[in-house]
Amino acid sequence: MLIRKTADIRPSEITSETNYLNRRDFIRAGAIAGGSLIAASAGAAVIPDTRQAKLSGISKSPFSTDEAPNSFEDISTYNNFYEFGTGKADPFRNAQDFKPRPWTIEVSGFAEKTGTFDFDDFMKPFDLEERIYRMRCVEAWSMVIPWVGISLAEVVKYFRPTSKAKYVAFETLNDKEQMPGIRRRSLDWPYREGLTIEEATNPLSILAVGIYGNSIPNQNGAPIRLVTPWKYGFKGIKSIVKINFTSSRPRTSWNMAAANEYGFYANVNPEVSHPRWSQARERRIGAGLFADKQETLMFNGYGEQVAHLYKGLDLRRNF
Ligand code: MTE
Repeated sequence: MLIRKTADIRPSEITSETNYLNRRDFIRAGAIAGGSLIAASAGAAVIPDTRQAKLSGISKSPFSTDEAPNSFEDISTYNNFYEFGTGKADPFRNAQDFKPRPWTIEVSGFAEKTGTFDFDDFMKPFDLEERIYRMRCVEAWSMVIPWVGISLAEVVKYFRPTSKAKYVAFETLNDKEQMPGIRRRSLDWPYREGLTIEEATNPLSILAVGIYGNSIPNQNGAPIRLVTPWKYGFKGIKSIVKINFTSSRPRTSWNMAAANEYGFYANVNPEVSHPRWSQARERRIGAGLFADKQETLMFNGYGEQVAHLYKGLDLRRNF
């Protein structure tokens, strides 16, 4: 994965969230022009608000952490979404004209119910839940994100996979008109990810459609993306257009790009280093420039819910 040594100081390190929120309306009034940031007053960078429409009927989940969530600003301006560029601020800058509606999701493969569904029809059978999860990126940074999503286990059950379905494969939209990063070959497009059927039906797995009670911003994977909090963030494929029930292990983007660095499982594991850096510790985004790194937990702290999925598996070889 590209690691950029940019001198970018994130907005949260300059402006407290309260100040930021107070300035929101002012900022909204005209700070975004042609997708680029402009300064409202000399020297002060302002951040356009990309908060979306409010979602309703959200219930709380016992799976949420009580750790303090990152600010909306952190979550929506420090992103990985290579379809919009490889820099951390590129998705925020370049995804604002992206159209997450109309949107269809094609469900195919070894399942009794398949077809192409309009996003709203796809969502109808499922209940929205808030899931406040830790997210640990393979690049050794982390955040706490209050997702709104639907249970992936419920989604899988709804489409009635047959006994041949051993994996669930996902694909992102591949549209170079809307996604300028696709014009470069930073990855082999479309972005692809996959889970075993046991992982997909684990109660922690969700398809997220919101953050902080509002629809998910484009840069975070609108209108729908995967969240598996015990795995490195790259498993969390964004802007999903295809779900395929397969009998063999699907090819996945980062594994295709560098199999010795990014495994299929990609479970958070502080004991297995990335070939180029240790995974023992992580930098919590928003903690401030001088904060100590914190220890990374096995399965990102979700071992109680997921360790049984990997019983008998050598986690060094199956990383
Ligand atoms: N999905 C797509 N389609 N393209 C991407 O580049 N990046 C992944 C993942 N999903 C990525 C993607 C990586 S590396 C991470 S860490 C998370 O998205 C980041 O999610 P966030 O930007 O919402 O924090």
